Amino acid sequence: MLILGIETSCDETSAALVADGTILSNVIASQIDLHARFGGVVPEVASRKHVEAIGYVTREAIDSAGKTLPEIEAIAVTSRHGLIGSLIVGVSAAKSLAYALKVPLVGIHHIEGHIFANILSHPEMPLPHVCLTVSGGHTMLVYVKDVCQYEVMGNTLDDAAGEAFDKVAKFLGLSFPGGPVIEKLSVQGNKSAFALPRPLGRSRSFDFSFSGLKTAVVNMFKDKDRETLPLPDIAASFQEAVVDVLVSKTLQAARHKGVPAVSVTGGVSINRRLRESFSDACHREGLRVFFPQLDLCTDNAAMVAAAGAARLKYGDVSGLDLNAVPSAPLESAK
Ligand code: KG4
Ligand code: ZN
Repeated sequence: MLILGIETSCDETSAALVADGTILSNVIASQIDLHARFGGVVPEVASRKHVEAIGYVTREAIDSAGKTLPEIEAIAVTSRHGLIGSLIVGVSAAKSLAYALKVPLVGIHHIEGHIFANILSHPEMPLPHVCLTVSGGHTMLVYVKDVCQYEVMGNTLDDAAGEAFDKVAKFLGLSFPGGPVIEKLSVQGNKSAFALPRPLGRSRSFDFSFSGLKTAVVNMFKDKDRETLPLPDIAASFQEAVVDVLVSKTLQAARHKGVPAVSVTGGVSINRRLRESFSDACHREGLRVFFPQLDLCTDNAAMVAAAGAARLKYGDVSGLDLNAVPSAPLESAK
């Protein structure tokens, strides 16, 4: 089945064509440069930019796949969890196309998209497994029992891990998004230079909390001269604290469920220290670990199309009354 995916939940306008697990195109127009000057995503600016981009991004996804509009057999769109103004643009485009082409439409939860980024990258990934989605907007642990069958085990209670990277970077006077800059600085830094907390690290719950860690960094350095801050050591110590918590909670969840594998996905899963630490820890525990190919870690429409294809197999079709919903639980297919 040839399926068109559309993703506009935050600051990436993306459209992709996926056929039976093969990505034919995955066009992403990123707005990062536009938001960088504000030090974070400005929702109103994001939605206006999606309106400008959605037409040509969709056209390019179809053209570069060597396909035509009438060949599209279904449309999947991120309809829940994200910035409302941004979501509305993608949902409206998807509904119009589904109506015009008379093809089924399916609304996808953004986290389910991220889960499918890994399934798309590694079709051999075992089920059940435990999936950590770690991005700018989410830090969520999900027990993936089967295809589209989920049990949410834990969530962030405050800031998401990527958000903490972005806020700490902003405090240190670094550019947005903070994750890649902090990772780059960390390479020359000492990860044990500063003793930072591991929030909820010892707790038995599977929830996360990163706002206290961010505040710990701020309190440690707010009275110091910004010009002389040991940035690589701060970056490395902060990154290590985030990575430690993510790895230990995910492995705790995997042990609890007795799964043979874990999957890590979302923008922060690009981070090399995170990948290395997960790989070492999983190796020690005899678990397999999977990360998406790099271009599927951050927001993209191929993962949405893949999730849509799986949902359609369950007969999960949305009506033309599909709405954009900014906050919604991750639900299993029926
Ligand atoms: O998945 P994504 O594109 O958007 C959301 O759904 O939020 O993730 C963006 C987040 C940002 O917070 C960014 O700082 C973080 O992913 N990120 C990284 C790295 N690359 C991107 N965090 C740590 N290390 C990286 N290399
Ligand atoms: Zn995302």
